[in-house]
Amino acid sequence: MQLAAKAMHLALYAVLVAVPISGVLMMAAKGRAFDVFWLFTVPPLMATDRAFGESLEEAHEMLSYLMLILVGLHAAAAVFHQAILKDGVLAACCRSAELASPPRCEDARVRDFRHKKLNAV
Ligand code: HEM
Repeated sequence: MQLAAKAMHLALYAVLVAVPISGVLMMAAKGRAFDVFWLFTVPPLMATDRAFGESLEEAHEMLSYLMLILVGLHAAAAVFHQAILKDGVLAACCRSAELASPPRCEDARVRDFRHKKLNAV
């Protein structure tokens, strides 16, 4: 189970890196410049090679669909842990998110805190 989780995370990181890189390389091989969030333009970074560009386009598409599948499987595994195994994996994710960010106003923890404070007066 832990090995599967490690493999899944590794695969997710791999596609997260490979998809944008294949996109950038595809644009370069096709001799096309591209904008980065309308801030600046990146010119083609290599000599135009249409055949290579087509292969990269296929790779880019395949990798992005693989990414979608992995994200779906990852979410399904989280639901499986929560609903079937009931081993608290999802709650552990929430706890680590809780530790990483301070409570926001709409958080139940803040509401509880305010409620207790009002009742104490
Ligand atoms: C996480 C990042 C990315 C994801 C998930 C993603 C996903 C996709 C998908 C699913 C398609 C196929 C769309 C279709 O044919 O219906 C596509 C096409 C394309 N992507 Fe990306 N992409 C990403 C990053 C990039 C980057 C960084 C570039 C270039 C700077 C790029 C350039 C393109 C181009 C030009 C196409 C169209 C190819 C064509 O039909 O000529 N993508 N992308």
